[in-house]
Amino acid sequence: MQEIVCAIDIGTTKVCALMAEVSHDSLGKLTLRLLGEGQASSRGIRRGVVVNVPEATAAVGEAVEACEKEAGRQMLTAYVGIAGSHIATRNSKGVSPVDRKNGVTGHDMQRALEGAGAVALPENQEVIHTIARHWTVDGETEVQQPVGMSAIRLEVDAHIVSGSSTAVNNLVQCVLAHGIDVDELVLEPLAANEAVLKPEERRMGVAVVDMGGGTSDLAIFIDNALCHTIIMDMGGNHLSNDLAYALHCPFETAEDLKLRHGSLLPARIAPDETVWATVFGEKNERSFSRRFICEVLEARAMEMMEKIGEKLEESGYLQRLPAGLVLTGGCSQLPGFTELGREVLNMPVRIGAPTARLPISGLSRTLLSPTYATSVGLLLWGMNEDARAVHRRFEADPLPTALTPSWLGKTASWLKHLLPDRN
Ligand SMILES: Nc1ncnc2c1ncn2[C@@H]1O[C@H](COP(=O)(O)OP(=O)(O)OP(=O)(O)O)[C@@H](O)[C@H]1O
Ligand SMILES: [Mg+2]
Repeated sequence: MQEIVCAIDIGTTKVCALMAEVSHDSLGKLTLRLLGEGQASSRGIRRGVVVNVPEATAAVGEAVEACEKEAGRQMLTAYVGIAGSHIATRNSKGVSPVDRKNGVTGHDMQRALEGAGAVALPENQEVIHTIARHWTVDGETEVQQPVGMSAIRLEVDAHIVSGSSTAVNNLVQCVLAHGIDVDELVLEPLAANEAVLKPEERRMGVAVVDMGGGTSDLAIFIDNALCHTIIMDMGGNHLSNDLAYALHCPFETAEDLKLRHGSLLPARIAPDETVWATVFGEKNERSFSRRFICEVLEARAMEMMEKIGEKLEESGYLQRLPAGLVLTGGCSQLPGFTELGREVLNMPVRIGAPTARLPISGLSRTLLSPTYATSVGLLLWGMNEDARAVHRRFEADPLPTALTPSWLGKTASWLKHLLPDRN
């Protein structure tokens, strides 16, 4: 069993590298102890996608080096987040015959998943995840753990996540360049959900949106199963860009004003409140109307919420989300997102962040922020992947070549979803 789990979250604005040790608590449940964390400002990444490999590689190197230094050991493999508008998802079905004498075996499940994953993809797209959503055994639907059930036919409803091979390869190169193998590429909203969703939310039906700097990543969970994912090209950088245009100031000034004075509730701000910032290296600071700043931010944030509403509607699951929407990612910290979300979407909205309740000790205060939901979630994903080796109730065959990309270090994503319920 792997004892060290590492995560590299390569975002549009920051790269975060984490290393943790896997152990068991007194009840035998897996836990993590954080050994090191490292960060660097992103370079060569646009809207979640590597657009300049040498620059992005250097940023990854900085974050990894800082993490290794703190942990006092080398990073050898890592779970790496992936996002970007090149990601496509779809649901698919697979079937496998079952030998009634033996009951359902891991091999049958593998064959059914293989069938579901054998979808025709456009050229230059490859499968990143094939995730089992529901199993059906001889017509009995929503079986959670079919192994050992006596039957003649096994069906799986699976969620297929694919991405551009070019984007995948560029991302992987930035990690391999440091001698680090990729355990698995993990779709960022899947990682983020591990860190911020409560088990009861996932059971009832919930949408989670990781609003970062360049992308907002949506995932929907109902009955504990992933139903839908989509990556949207919008994030905190869009808010700062709008502000830069509206105030005729550089992006950096707008970003600074947004972080220090931004809010999505302009009506609560006195019309004559002014704030100050330097512009284009001028000697004296310039004054700005804080209410105007917040009106600009509110207009874009409203558009972002409406887009999320549209995507929820298009997914067909809008009416099945009693637990509402959980917002996370750095951008969700802008005051007023919950109020705006409730008003636009007419559903419960809360901000989600990694908390002390997670089975990870040693998380710094910095990491207990929505900004690090994906980074911390990648560690949890890695830990649960490891659980496969401990809790697996059956032997699965080696992975079929079609599902094993050349860069994949150790395990493949679908295997983790053959596990018993992890909550
Ligand atoms: N306190 C805050 N208030 C408002 N916005 C914030 C705050 N802190 C960070 N942000 C914004 O969050 C964004 C960065 O979020 P995050 O670190 O989650 O993105 P990322 O992972 O680098 O990017 P992505 O996931 O989109 O590729 C930036 O636009 C930043 O301005
Ligand atoms: Mg991110």
